[in-house]
Amino acid sequence: MTNYVKIFDTTLRDGEQAPGFSMTAGQKLRLVKALEGLQVDIIEAGFAAASPGDFDAIRTIAHEVKDSTVCSLARCNENDIRASGEAIKPAKSGRIHTFIATSPLHRKYKLKMSRDEIVARAVAGVELARQYTDDVEFSCEDAIRTERDYLKRVVEAAIRAGASTINIPDTVGYTTPEEIRDLFEFLTSGVEDADSVTFSAHCHDDLGLAVANSLAAVRGGARQVECALNGIGERAGNCAMEEVVMALRTRYDFFGLATGIKTPGIYGASRLLATLTGNPVPRNKAIIGRNAFAHESGIHQHGVLANRETYEIMKPEDVGVNTDNLVLGKHSGRAALKNRARKLGFELSDNQLQSVFIAFKELADEKKEVFDTDIEALILGEAVSTDGPWQISSLHVSAGSNMNHPMATVRLKHSDGREREHASQAAGPLNAVFDAISQITDIPMKLDHFGVRSVSGGEDAMAEATVRVSTDFESYQGLGTSTDTVLAGAKAYLDVINRIERRAVRQTSIAAQH
Ligand code: KIV
Ligand code: ZN
Repeated sequence: MTNYVKIFDTTLRDGEQAPGFSMTAGQKLRLVKALEGLQVDIIEAGFAAASPGDFDAIRTIAHEVKDSTVCSLARCNENDIRASGEAIKPAKSGRIHTFIATSPLHRKYKLKMSRDEIVARAVAGVELARQYTDDVEFSCEDAIRTERDYLKRVVEAAIRAGASTINIPDTVGYTTPEEIRDLFEFLTSGVEDADSVTFSAHCHDDLGLAVANSLAAVRGGARQVECALNGIGERAGNCAMEEVVMALRTRYDFFGLATGIKTPGIYGASRLLATLTGNPVPRNKAIIGRNAFAHESGIHQHGVLANRETYEIMKPEDVGVNTDNLVLGKHSGRAALKNRARKLGFELSDNQLQSVFIAFKELADEKKEVFDTDIEALILGEAVSTDGPWQISSLHVSAGSNMNHPMATVRLKHSDGREREHASQAAGPLNAVFDAISQITDIPMKLDHFGVRSVSGGEDAMAEATVRVSTDFESYQGLGTSTDTVLAGAKAYLDVINRIERRAVRQTSIAAQH
């Protein structure tokens, strides 16, 4: 058995389908570039039959990606499989991932199908998918709660029909490490022609065991792990890519298995995802949290100064966390900026470099020294501010101890050409700004949380504002950066408004198509 574990990234499918994590086509493409930079083996780009928007996004991704296999999910039915087949057509290497549920609960209550009917559907699905590509993955949804003899029967039928990857999902995050290892050992040793296919694990995190279960599955013979950056995904999420990859790498002595992931790109890709979706990573999150490499207690600091390995099992730079914090200044050129961005894990297109460079020059005029953390904030700020539809044209605030009610005048421009201005007074300057933005955009929201932190040191540091709001239906997060705290807050609030408006447009277009 090979000692290579394929990394199948489902950030754009299982991750993106979770509430609060949706992305525009442009955002997906941006993330795909980061995933390709990580050298992910397979990118599950979406579910082609879900909507015309999803279909188009997968097709564009299939066109753009050169180094990874691009995959589309399909239920085992003709419409889904044909949609996936068409969507991945432009890919250099394309995969169809088709699935049907096999557990007694799903058979009886969801599918209302007999065991035999499900086997027949699985075989027909795989055979049809094979008409589009030789690379077909088959999943038994809720495999963990499926009777073993029946699971074996479905898997053998799928292999005979032409599947080359067999995925065994723990759809509801129910299994334990020992149980799943045993199941993979049973399948990889007992299934007819097991050697001709790759077995894959797909674990959800409902009991907080997704990474541990995926690693145990690998011990049992899985050679593909399905995972998502930052562990995003349905309900409690999927197996976190950064965790499973770094566990295999750090404990090579134990697992003896390798992945092809270029780990220094992990931190940048994770930050990009957090910014694009407006969902910050918790400070204490393994591998990529802000505290993951911070040593606060005196005893730990003392140890690390004497020898880093006393308290560090991985080097920060191995996952792209930069500890040098080098400085650029106003005389630094475009090439230096591009180079530094690459070191931070961001591959900028010419257009992106152009807008980040303008922002960099403006910042370098205001700040003596521009640190890596500032550059990261500029890149991430650019990633959200260009998505619109609303942009800030101007913002004026008057506030102070001799004013009863601070006042904010905000002017916004919409991508459809509308330009509107509103002045609001409120108890605080930020409340006044938020109110003016809500009045202009006509989106009332309840502010649940506002936070601001400096991204680098010094009195001229950049501020990063985060806003969490709720509407009648959902909760949203937004992010904004600027050297001006009030402007950072306004950008974060507008980021949320833009997410709500983009979502409404998407839903209207889906409703119109059905
Ligand atoms: O969790 C699950 O079962 C899935 C399948 C579609 C693979 O996401
Ligand atoms: Zn899943």
